[in-house]
Amino acid sequence: MFDKKSESGENSKNGENGENGNNNKNGIIQCETIKITKMTPEHIPQIHAIETAVFDDPWSLAALAGELNNPHAMYIVAEKSAEIVGYAGMWHVVNEGQIINIATAPQYRKNGVASLLLEHLIQLATCHEMMGLTLEVRLSNIPAQKLYQKYGFQQEGIRKNYYAATKTTPREDAIIMWKYLI
Ligand SMILES: CC(C)(COP(=O)(O)OP(=O)(O)OC[C@H]1O[C@@H](n2cnc3c(N)ncnc32)[C@H](O)[C@@H]1OP(=O)(O)O)[C@@H](O)C(=O)NCCC(=O)NCCS
Repeated sequence: MFDKKSESGENSKNGENGENGNNNKNGIIQCETIKITKMTPEHIPQIHAIETAVFDDPWSLAALAGELNNPHAMYIVAEKSAEIVGYAGMWHVVNEGQIINIATAPQYRKNGVASLLLEHLIQLATCHEMMGLTLEVRLSNIPAQKLYQKYGFQQEGIRKNYYAATKTTPREDAIIMWKYLI
């Protein structure tokens, strides 16, 4: 099902080394390169800063750092110079990839950062011969749903009241999405 050419999209003109010099939709990243690398301990504080800026129920520093020692976890970061502009992680469980999180720092959104990250997760899953990738996304999170749909993820079910209420968000259902690779 994975048609790399048709799904690579306008935001994903990354070269062989994973760098991207064309993500200049709104000018913020113009003439800069975005490099996708494996998450290391040095990245954790910046990832945590994005996590707390983006989510109402952010992972703690310890929980994020714990993923470095999780044998099932695969985390990647998008770097512009030394700055982390986005990150994504998945767990390789049996023969499937469970996408745990993906986020772009607010000031770098709509520049293809999440697209690059998701493309790399799909490549990783393909390399590891996973049968597919799955995730949960809030019913109200249209930007994320559009991102996943762009890469061929389809709705496969609903988990009722999956997300607990937070200070700013109500209790909410999750959409279960899948992208099958074989
Ligand atoms: C969802 C998110 C990761 C997208 O990151 P991004 O770097 O801005 O995404 P990209 O620039 O790569 O956009 C890729 C596609 O996502 C979709 N998209 C991104 N932002 C969107 C928005 N505000 N509205 C609608 N669709 C959007 C579009 O389909 C877009 O493709 P296009 O540019 O060809 O239209 C980002 O908005 C984010 O960090 N949100 C908060 C964290 C979150 O919700 N994570 C997902 C949890 S399940």
